[in-house]
Amino acid sequence: MAKLAHAQWSSRMTFVLAAAGSAVGLGNIWKFPYMVGESGGAAFVFVYLLCIALIGLPILVSEWLLGRRGQKNPASTMSELARGANKPKAWAIVGVSGIIGAFLILSFYSVIGGWSLYYTVNSVSGAFIGQDADGIGALFNGMLSNPGLLLLGHSVFMLLVIGIVARGVTKGLEGAVRILMPVLALLLVVLIGYGMSTGHFGEALTYMFNPDWSKLTAETVLAALGHAFFTLSLGMGIMMAYGSYLGKDINLLQTARTVIIMDTVIALGAGLAIFPIVFANNLDLASGPGLIFVTLPLAFGNMDGGLILGLMFFLLLTFAALTSAISLLEPVVEFVEERTPLSRVMATVVAGVGAWLLGIAALLSFNVWSEPLMFGLGVFDLLDTLTSKIMLPLTGLGAILFAAWCLDRKSVEAELELSTTGKSVWNIIARYVAPAGVIAVFVTGLI
Ligand code: TRP
Repeated sequence: MAKLAHAQWSSRMTFVLAAAGSAVGLGNIWKFPYMVGESGGAAFVFVYLLCIALIGLPILVSEWLLGRRGQKNPASTMSELARGANKPKAWAIVGVSGIIGAFLILSFYSVIGGWSLYYTVNSVSGAFIGQDADGIGALFNGMLSNPGLLLLGHSVFMLLVIGIVARGVTKGLEGAVRILMPVLALLLVVLIGYGMSTGHFGEALTYMFNPDWSKLTAETVLAALGHAFFTLSLGMGIMMAYGSYLGKDINLLQTARTVIIMDTVIALGAGLAIFPIVFANNLDLASGPGLIFVTLPLAFGNMDGGLILGLMFFLLLTFAALTSAISLLEPVVEFVEERTPLSRVMATVVAGVGAWLLGIAALLSFNVWSEPLMFGLGVFDLLDTLTSKIMLPLTGLGAILFAAWCLDRKSVEAELELSTTGKSVWNIIARYVAPAGVIAVFVTGLI
């Protein structure tokens, strides 16, 4: 997007689609359901929704607002806005740490993108047909224990991301998002319908929406907070970068609401599609990152039209993962391009290959390198924990603190087009509730 500096999104719709393309991805369909399963269900869902509304929304708005004012990449935006507000230049750290974090996330994100590609192939080859839970489980474990296969998937996925970003055609994808996102939502509805036919839908509903508060621990609250950041693509300067192309006439709060609703509906839909299958087959709720890969293929293998629906689903999942991965690589490329003499293509290759190499370490932690590296975690879990539970919340906290405390309050209120009550609500939430929430959760979750 570097060449488009000072350019603007052609309409609010294109912007919403680009932001939704970044937000809706593996986080919604792969990660959210397994986190719900690992954290015991509805209590986690409830805290997650609370984090989205009280912390995610104001931070999303803050990132866009900062980006729109700075009109640069996140690191330069932060240092310039800090200078303009007579604040220490150190605020640029918020931008820089975002870029590092995006690189780290991309490395393991691509590994899962590779799983999705492999499952696309599996769905066409008929690998799911007539399988029971054991057969589907064996397919997944077979993949996980095969480093060559994981490497192939990871490499193809990363090549696609590098190819798209190097050619600078990321903007061409919004048109596709406009069509494919509704199709994805429709497929989830079909899968929810299948879930109802298993007779275990009620159990899934209770599991997801009837909280058992005893399941809530400081750690699951931190996980919910981290995931709120992850799913909305917050805390990595990505939304800030998108905001830098945003026209002055666009209402940030309304736009944030639209993107958040889309993101949340897809995540909850994925949960409602998956949990009935878990209960119907007595699968392990806490099976972790493999959850969607051991549940949905069971549905595809045993329903009418499952072959074509399975193919469509995994293709769409791969596409959703691609649009998110692109948004992760883009800021890293812009940064490399700006700070080195490399051309855009070379900068993309360097950043992409770097993330690819780190991704190899992540994928090996599923098989030959499974012994813990640090804090009892392997490389994959380490990258996930470091980014979601530490870097995203801290960087997002920096963004909202800056927007709420360092910028001129009146001008922010005017920019957000707030009513009198709106002003008080915004100031209470952005200045106190959201930052205090992040700090409280962060501190209690880590100790
Ligand atoms: N939000 C994406 C998802 O849910 C992942 C993602 C894209 C992301 N860009 C990001 C996460 C920036 C954190 C920061 O799959």
